[in-house]
Amino acid sequence: MLGVTGGIAAYKSAELVRLWVRQGHTVDVVMTAAAKAFVGPVTFQALSGRPVRDDLWHCGDGGMDHIALSRNVDAVIVAPASADFIGKLTHGLADDLLSTLCLARDCPLLVAPAMNRQMWENPATRRNIAQLRADGIAVLGPASGEQACGEVGEGRMIEPEEIVWRVESQLLPKPLAGRRVLVTSGPTYEPLDPVRAIVNRSSGRMGHAIAAAARDAGAEVTLVSGPVALPPPGDVRTLRVETAAEMLAAVESELDGTDIFVSVAAVADYRSETPSEDKIKRDGGPLQLDLLPNPDILAAVAARPDAPFCVGFAAESRDLLDNAEAKRRRKGLPLLVANDASAIGSAESSLHLLDDSGIHSLPPAEKAISGRWVVEHIARLFTHWERH
Ligand SMILES: Cc1cc2nc3c(=O)[nH]c(=O)nc-3n(C[C@H](O)[C@H](O)[C@H](O)COP(=O)(O)O)c2cc1C
Repeated sequence: MLGVTGGIAAYKSAELVRLWVRQGHTVDVVMTAAAKAFVGPVTFQALSGRPVRDDLWHCGDGGMDHIALSRNVDAVIVAPASADFIGKLTHGLADDLLSTLCLARDCPLLVAPAMNRQMWENPATRRNIAQLRADGIAVLGPASGEQACGEVGEGRMIEPEEIVWRVESQLLPKPLAGRRVLVTSGPTYEPLDPVRAIVNRSSGRMGHAIAAAARDAGAEVTLVSGPVALPPPGDVRTLRVETAAEMLAAVESELDGTDIFVSVAAVADYRSETPSEDKIKRDGGPLQLDLLPNPDILAAVAARPDAPFCVGFAAESRDLLDNAEAKRRRKGLPLLVANDASAIGSAESSLHLLDDSGIHSLPPAEKAISGRWVVEHIARLFTHWERH
């Protein structure tokens, strides 16, 4: 259930509904009277495909909508949450439909405050926010930056995409709480000259999804990313590198205290022996490049006496499962995730998880979803691995 209260950021809540609906969630929108001064209910109705509620006195079939509506939902999220509404929540006031539903709910409540920076800094708001947290209500944000009123400071609502992952992160189980997870992602970039390089089609989507899923599972996550066009996942320490050698150095510097290492990056197998200092000129004839093998980062980590739980990824264009299992045994990995090479760079993947108990094939899914399944599997195996 999305509660929308009276603030400029109410227009961003329309995007929030769209994102949730696209993920397959059912969203019931409840608006305060003030919210309707900013965005019309018709917008939310059209995006959610469900009636928008705003009236405490429209009692529904059973006459008890004021308590019934928040009974069958997984969570109530109030975004934007106005200073006024936060004050009402703090004091348990219930003088409109949304505040009554919040008070009568039996599910988690999350609020995304949005207000002018001085309203946010006001001692009354500070007190109210501290009380909400003490009452077990999750406060998402706010962010800092330019405000609708033209001032700059803290109080902006966090962006809809961030609300989406923060809500999921709050609600998901935390099998990796207290664990440190190190993930590599993306391609590497092996220079040939100042402007050219050996690269590959990896987008970093899978590695970033694994890092985000491990974060959502409660882990403290470090991501070592090759050059990608993706934003770093929120709350994930991200180190950017270019070459395989830089990636190896970054991984080695982060290994201490790492419980789980997930090597998702498509590390170039070869690099130029001597990258040219000047741009290589076309002379019409064939060009000879001498390539040296790059270090095998995963094998190097897995071979250490104090190796963390190591997970590899293998993309193969033929004999996927045979090649992947051979790679898993060669590198001595408890888990290897096999991926058809055609999935590299695409938004979807269909993965096979290879471990000591055999092959577990996952259905095709967006990488954000597959990443979550992989992390669930890792968490299960890790618990077992750690015990033995
Ligand atoms: C143009 C305009 C913008 C406003 N923006 C905000 C805002 O961003 N955050 C906020 O807390 N209040 C804002 N307010 C004040 C609230 O709309 C007002 O406190 C209202 O009573 C909130 O009602 P509700 O909490 O029931 O939705 C704004 C008011 C106006 C007129």
